Amino acid sequence: MITRRQLVKHLGVGSLVTLGGFPVSYLVAQSPTTPQNTLAIPPQLAGTASAGVQHFNLHVQAGSSRFMENADTPTLGINGNYLGPTLRFNRNDKVALHVDNGLAEPTTLHWHGFHLPATEDGGPHQVVEPGTVWTARFDVVQFAGTFWYHSHMMDKSGEQVYQGLAGMIIVDEPEQSYPLPNVYGVDDIPVIVQDRRFDDDGTFRYMNLYEDMVVGMRGETILVNGTVNPVFEASTRFIRLRLLNASNARTYTFALSDRRQFYQIASDGGLLSGPVPMTTLELAVAERAEILVELRAGEEVKLVNEAVQSGFPEFPGAMSQMMRELDAQNFDILTLRAQSQLADNIVLPESLTSIYRLPEAAATTTRRFQLSMGSGMRSGEDRGPGRGNRNGGGGGHGGGNFLINGRRMAEDFINETIELNTTEIWELTNNSPMMHPFHVHNGQFQLLDRNGVAPPANEMGWKDTVRVGSGERVRIIMRFTDFSNAEAPYMYHCHILEHEDRGMMGQFVVV
Ligand code: C2O
Ligand code: CU
Ligand code: CU
Repeated sequence: MITRRQLVKHLGVGSLVTLGGFPVSYLVAQSPTTPQNTLAIPPQLAGTASAGVQHFNLHVQAGSSRFMENADTPTLGINGNYLGPTLRFNRNDKVALHVDNGLAEPTTLHWHGFHLPATEDGGPHQVVEPGTVWTARFDVVQFAGTFWYHSHMMDKSGEQVYQGLAGMIIVDEPEQSYPLPNVYGVDDIPVIVQDRRFDDDGTFRYMNLYEDMVVGMRGETILVNGTVNPVFEASTRFIRLRLLNASNARTYTFALSDRRQFYQIASDGGLLSGPVPMTTLELAVAERAEILVELRAGEEVKLVNEAVQSGFPEFPGAMSQMMRELDAQNFDILTLRAQSQLADNIVLPESLTSIYRLPEAAATTTRRFQLSMGSGMRSGEDRGPGRGNRNGGGGGHGGGNFLINGRRMAEDFINETIELNTTEIWELTNNSPMMHPFHVHNGQFQLLDRNGVAPPANEMGWKDTVRVGSGERVRIIMRFTDFSNAEAPYMYHCHILEHEDRGMMGQFVVV
């Protein structure tokens, strides 16, 4: 259990935790004395076949988990106390996901990254009331890849995901021929990264500080698959890590502790055209990346977060300091311990798949989305369209007014209407002081460019969430096919869950 006092002690520098009068709570507390724990591997759920459909029973429940040595944490989970099982889908399967809500409050489960009818999406309109079952049915049309599911309850996604309502989904392709590690939990490893803040009695603390409302909820303790200070014991030369940033707000810059090269092989929506050698990999909330790491027998190497130097200009005041400190810290995420003998499981493939690039010329419409953090120090509790005082009119970015094109999310307002079977370019700009990961429901898109420059190789594959940095202009291209319904909207939003819950979301219908 890490108290605030101990946190200060671990960091060694008391003054680091107070900046401009606000405690910087999101610095990760690392204690060399915390015992290491074997990385938990979420159980897999492959469903049961009946009449050509794979059925999955997902029971949303309250529970209790032991993260700290001597305190229990009340948590939420799916078929368990914290997080949920890894769902295994095959491409072209028909699935039926039966979500039974055993909580005392309404919830939803959203299938993040999937191309499906809006009524099956598990977004804010598919509420599952306590004691009821909601079933989502769809055909899995995705390529093989790493996806996830999580609560998308209106105004409550942040809180419910924080307490544990999230899990991984792996899509397989029956005919997959590429030689990648594929033994789950052995050389093909789910890595669900989250940061949490604990109270002294073991309970999660959620949104108890001013900066939680501005930069989103960050915690001082890193969990991987719900394990504190985790170690994974590797038995093979290559391991495939399926990285999922399931944090509420924190962006990670993954690296290996000795700065060795690794290879990114997949992005949000599936395989890249070939392994991309890298030494650091930035992953915002909801983004996924599969990486291959090569190990040597008997060694220990750590997956770490690498500090990023802030480019934010230095102004006096808490906001500037908050932004400057945001990701400026190194910390450990997962220890990889190689056994003294390693099985030669694969040879690094040269290429993986061929990706059809959506031609820019196919787009018939360009839509613009401006992401902004409304000015003013208001609490952001009121909602509704439009600018003006009601949505905050004071000075400085703060207080929880998060807008897209000047509007807050309203469930009864359709922001965009899109014609079925068209291709569109969405131009995303960000005039706020921090990066926002922009997510679009209803499938996968591609990046055209960032500030006019072609994306790096690891962003040339299918994506459903894209980082839009402060001052950046990012263009994405997407097809809207198969499903139309004027009544049922899909969402687009910032995936920092506290921003989403405070209005940085909009709705589109395909007609
Ligand atoms: Cu990961 Cu709108 O969701
Ligand atoms: Cu989604
Ligand atoms: Cu945001």
